[in-house]
Amino acid sequence: MIKNLYTLLIIVCIIILNAAFDSNPKSVKLDQTVNGLLLELGDSDLPHPIDRSIEGVSSKRGEEIIKYGFTENHKGNKVKKQSKHFVCTSCHNLVKEDPDLSVSDPEARLRYSIENDLPFLQGTTLYGAVNRTSFYNDDYYKKYGDLVFDARNDIRNAIQLCATECAQGRALDDWEIESILSYMYDIDLKVGDLNMSAVERDLVEDAINGTSSKEEAIELVKSKYLAGSPATFINPPIERKNLIFESPDLQMGKMLYERSCLHCHEEGKYSYLTLDDTKMTFQYLSRKANGFKRNSMYQVIRYGVPSYVMKKSYMPHYTAEKMNEEQLNNLRAYIDYRAKK
Ligand code: HEC
Ligand code: HEC
Repeated sequence: MIKNLYTLLIIVCIIILNAAFDSNPKSVKLDQTVNGLLLELGDSDLPHPIDRSIEGVSSKRGEEIIKYGFTENHKGNKVKKQSKHFVCTSCHNLVKEDPDLSVSDPEARLRYSIENDLPFLQGTTLYGAVNRTSFYNDDYYKKYGDLVFDARNDIRNAIQLCATECAQGRALDDWEIESILSYMYDIDLKVGDLNMSAVERDLVEDAINGTSSKEEAIELVKSKYLAGSPATFINPPIERKNLIFESPDLQMGKMLYERSCLHCHEEGKYSYLTLDDTKMTFQYLSRKANGFKRNSMYQVIRYGVPSYVMKKSYMPHYTAEKMNEEQLNNLRAYIDYRAKK
């Protein structure tokens, strides 16, 4: 007993001495989480901590639902597939998709997708979703109406809204939502994603070590990424025939076609409409483009394809932040070019 006390005393002394002589300044590490860094700077925690008291919550299960649409519950039973039509990754990446997280620039994102071999999609990446505090922003209320209000400041409701409305599937159970959230915390923003300059990192390090303002450092860190993904709905061009594009970028049109359209339409993956690389397909798209029916690329890209009562699959539209007008023109030019070739 006495010996044990003695050991304990020594350990306590070592800890105290260590703390007292710890002259090593703390540093900012590129692989540490942005949330961890903000907490170190004295910021308040994210508004959606994981509730681990719910039975069955696990990141692995969350990851499986996101990637495959189903998982096993804590009793080892396979649960019903979330959606017959889609998985979350039909429309969302799970990795960083923007070179600069402080802007939503579709041109930069497309280039980044090419460099990193990523799909280019209508939904914002789930990477860093937990670092955001608002969801379905701006014009999304036009599409989902009141449903958006519950989801706007609540990530759990955002996940649920997407499961039932975007993925057109069953509602998720609480443990499933919590598992998805838990996985999303595994793919949260890391300091290295923020492209801070050496000077900026120094400033943050000084703040951690108490030699400069913590508030300013928090503000600096938060200026490096968006707290919400902007969404502007725009209309397709009315004049679609005999379009003349000033020097279109055919290569970018091709990349858009391959990284976006084919992601869902190749071999009819998520749609009965199969798109491929044949002249016939491009002729079809080119011919229909000029019309105002739902088989016109302009209609589906800007308005999406609505889902019907009996047939729930649908196509999400592209906001201006997910495909800008120049990109749409490049796509059209590429389709017309391939249709003639
Ligand atoms: C058919 C396409 C599609 C599917 C499937 C889908 N989503 Fe979405 N999701 C979207 C679109 C489009 C948005 C609109 C807002 C955005 O992401 O910019 C969105 C928004 C979200 C948001 C809010 C993002 C933000 O920053 O505003 C979350 C969270 C989300 N989805 C999670 C999921 C999860 C989890 C699944 C799978 C259960 C899923 N989604 C399936 C298309 C989809
Ligand atoms: C997230 C998956 C997804 C992406 C990305 C996508 N689509 Fe779709 N698209 C669909 C689904 C699902 C439908 C609905 C058809 C169905 O019920 O199978 C559809 C429908 C369409 C239709 C209407 C078919 C008809 O006649 O009813 C066209 C045309 C179309 N897509 C073209 C495109 C083009 C061009 C792109 C690229 C810019 C694209 N799609 C990107 C999933 C997608």
